Amino acid sequence: MTAMKRIGVLTSGGDCSGLNAAIRGVTLGAIKKGWEVLGIHNATDGLFVRPMRYQKLTMADFEFPYATLGGTMLGTNSSGNANLQERADGTYEELTNEQLNQRFKDAVEELGLSALVVIGGDGSMAIVSKFCKMAGISMIGIPKTIDNDAPGTDLAIGFATARAVVTDALDKLNTTAASHHRVLIAEVMGRGAGHLALESAVAGFADVALIPEIPYTYEGVVKRLKEAQANGKRHSVMVVAEGIKTPDGKHSYSCAGKFGGVSEYFVSRLAKDGFNARANVLGHIQRAGTPVAEDRILASAFAVKAVELLSEGKTNRVVCHQNGKIIDMDLNQVLKISNSPVDVNGEMVKVAQSLGIYIGER
Ligand code: F6P
Repeated sequence: MTAMKRIGVLTSGGDCSGLNAAIRGVTLGAIKKGWEVLGIHNATDGLFVRPMRYQKLTMADFEFPYATLGGTMLGTNSSGNANLQERADGTYEELTNEQLNQRFKDAVEELGLSALVVIGGDGSMAIVSKFCKMAGISMIGIPKTIDNDAPGTDLAIGFATARAVVTDALDKLNTTAASHHRVLIAEVMGRGAGHLALESAVAGFADVALIPEIPYTYEGVVKRLKEAQANGKRHSVMVVAEGIKTPDGKHSYSCAGKFGGVSEYFVSRLAKDGFNARANVLGHIQRAGTPVAEDRILASAFAVKAVELLSEGKTNRVVCHQNGKIIDMDLNQVLKISNSPVDVNGEMVKVAQSLGIYIGER
């Protein structure tokens, strides 16, 4: 057992629902071991700015309603630019890498931190682990992303809630699509992975689900929509992930290099083929909302495991969910695994295809 006195916890990268439940789990687990917990604000920025930004976390912080809310009570940062830090007066200062190292080291010393729990993506974990190593403290990572493509884990915090949010949106779109005999297109997040689009499409009874992993053709989409009409279905719902591609590897919309807008592309093209279509970009609503039970349980289980690992003196580990079990892996090993896209030969693809959902050319 390690003599841990005070640990830090932070959230980094894009937010999602379930982060507060994870912060709660880390805090309660650590307090039970007699440790103190500091919540670092705005990812590692809280340790780089002067004065530092953090708060002592106690059980009272998790009285209703924080842990039941989406977002992160600690704030986050997904800019990836730690060198630019905001001063207390609102102006910015540019810090060199050496200055960042020094500030991190000073912060750890001043706050008396023995470890940091990083709730974020693998990119954030890799960066923070270097700072922790340099400052001589332990680090444990907890994966989160609505894309559910984090390496090493079957599930990441935020995915289940985002899937519920998109499914709810599809249910709503289905009713208005049916009333107007329209094609309603839901554009969902997912630049490189289509788990969210595919699973929501199955849950939300969509006719089309386009994902980055499987190239689609416009003709394939039209064929499916016409089939639905021929079978007496006068409306359709399509789910399209923002990072979809045609077989030649091209994105189908005009703003090169930028994500978003693919649903509008379909609206204008489908109009020329006689379809009454409308676009709905679900956007950041997908990252919000009351965390569903699955995310709260996963976040709590990950948090408990993270605290346990620290008490065993472990560092540079990532907690993962594999085959129904919470395990831990070495961070460097996790970083060698590529992000996990949808398995194009997997169960969910088969389910979608068997239901007649057009998922692209395969
Ligand atoms: O977490 C990844 C993600 O959800 C992507 O699916 C999406 O493209 C991106 O975040 C959007 O992030 P931002 O907050 O920068 O708009």
